[in-house]
Amino acid sequence: MSDYGIRGVSAADVYELREALLLRRRGGSPSVPGDEDPTACHLAAYRDEARVGIGSIHPEPMPDGSTADTWRLHGVAVDHGHRGVGVGALIVERCLEHAAEHGARAVWCLAPAGVFGFFERYGFQRMGDPIDDPEGPQYKLFAEIEPLRRSWSL
Ligand SMILES: CC(C)(COP(=O)(O)OP(=O)(O)OC[C@H]1O[C@@H](n2cnc3c(N)ncnc32)[C@H](O)[C@@H]1OP(=O)(O)O)[C@@H](O)C(=O)NCCC(=O)NCCS
Repeated sequence: MSDYGIRGVSAADVYELREALLLRRRGGSPSVPGDEDPTACHLAAYRDEARVGIGSIHPEPMPDGSTADTWRLHGVAVDHGHRGVGVGALIVERCLEHAAEHGARAVWCLAPAGVFGFFERYGFQRMGDPIDDPEGPQYKLFAEIEPLRRSWSL
């Protein structure tokens, strides 16, 4: 991991990897409305100045409509050749730290079944039925911030 660095970047800086790693079938715009929220956080992981991982978080109501200080973790992805060395974990932890510092009480995200295990490690739980998507079924995952803060000492 010492070869990798994580930096805050602009929304535009995460779009290329979002398209390449997360939107191969769906196409269309890589942006979501929350990207431009003034409190949004966009992170990129670098190795030798090459961008190899991304992740974003912004305030957004839960899919069920509740709005009590919920944030959405979005677009977490690591380039294939750089997976399994802790880059994704660092991105998620930094995003959650940011949301916690800005008063988030809960965080949700959409994820395919193949990455449940990754998010479950950090306390996320599945909610409801999957949403149909050209990229494959996307499941709603949810976590309250306080247990995360206790387990990570955020
Ligand atoms: C999910 C993803 C971001 C993980 O990134 P990564 O950099 O490989 O993850 P890390 O190396 O930080 O892994 C952290 C831990 O999670 C585990 N893990 C990683 N991917 C996992 C998966 N798919 N299922 C279960 N556990 C997983 C690792 O084994 C590691 O465990 P350890 O700490 O005991 O060694 C990456 O696989 C990816 O980009 N997937 C495609 C994009 C995607 O589906 N994103 C989610 C939608 S937002």
